[in-house]
Amino acid sequence: MSRVLITGITGQDGGYLAERLLAEGDEVHGMVHSGDDAAAGFLAGHPGIALHDGDLGDSAGLSRVVEAVGPDEIYNLGGISSVAFSWEQPVLTAELSGVAAAVVFQSALQLQERAGRRVAVVQASSSEIFGDAAESPQDEETPVRPVSPYGAAKAYAHHIAGVYRSRGLHVASCILFNHESPRRPTTFVTRKITSAAARIGLTGTGVLSLGNLDARRDWGWAPDYVDAMVRAARHESPDDFVVATGTSHSVSDFVRSAFPRVGIEDLPAHLETDEAFVRPVDAPELVGNATKARREPQLRPTLSFEEIVDRRVDHDLATLGEGG
Ligand code: GDD
Repeated sequence: MSRVLITGITGQDGGYLAERLLAEGDEVHGMVHSGDDAAAGFLAGHPGIALHDGDLGDSAGLSRVVEAVGPDEIYNLGGISSVAFSWEQPVLTAELSGVAAAVVFQSALQLQERAGRRVAVVQASSSEIFGDAAESPQDEETPVRPVSPYGAAKAYAHHIAGVYRSRGLHVASCILFNHESPRRPTTFVTRKITSAAARIGLTGTGVLSLGNLDARRDWGWAPDYVDAMVRAARHESPDDFVVATGTSHSVSDFVRSAFPRVGIEDLPAHLETDEAFVRPVDAPELVGNATKARREPQLRPTLSFEEIVDRRVDHDLATLGEGG
């Protein structure tokens, strides 16, 4: 049994991770900040998890949580997760998604040295670190070249993970490409599309407004990526691992797969583009080469792109149908 600390436990990945580790008999602790409205509901739905007050922006408090829990494993999933929002709050993004990682690593190293046992850390890195990528697909050696405040913050966290690894901390940086589930909020494009498809499919009316339809992303299934993070934490040697499916689709491909699922074939009648959703800079294509993660910590994608789209649309249809 491992004692595990998760930052960002109330997010999509944090929830799947906590459920998986609890089911395996691990002792699960999560850090939540006082303004996290999801915390009370999360605790009610997940008895057995210990929640600790802490804020990624408060270095001393964050260190105290690591110290108090004394974990064997830390998963640093917290921070700003929306690339779009990072353009509105670049400094906050740098603090929560960048600098806080250094605090986690430093606290873990101190704990490791004091306790005389390994403290394994997983940093949830992101394909956004590659930005306007020098090559396609991207792997662990692809130059880091972010084009968004979010990508720059994650790039710092990714680099400082390497620094602490060279100091003897068992820190794996999992470079996660887009990964989706019904737990995604509608601020992300896939959920925005599937919830609109369900609504328009049920009512026969409505228009979906999107930004850049040409962006290509490598969309995987979130529980698979959580599995990869656990494998990376427990792998004998810490490293950087690209976690991806290896296939990219455009935003308009996603729309073209989702709408027919609800019986809508006339896309132009229900789709428009709106400049408000276009980012100042948007990486044109992010698609990962996960050969290393498949070989070593043994990432195994379980769902295809089409299955992911279908499951998501079906979920939103069912939810909307139940709500009347
Ligand atoms: N959100 C959103 N809303 N995105 C849109 C829209 C829209 O209306 N229209 C087009 N897009 C495009 C974005 O410009 C981007 O190219 C793509 O859809 C995906 O956007 P998001 O779903 O918001 O995800 P993301 O790629 O920016 O970020 C996600 O993946 C990263 C890994 O690459 C997040 O999960 C990040 O936390 C994660 O690191």
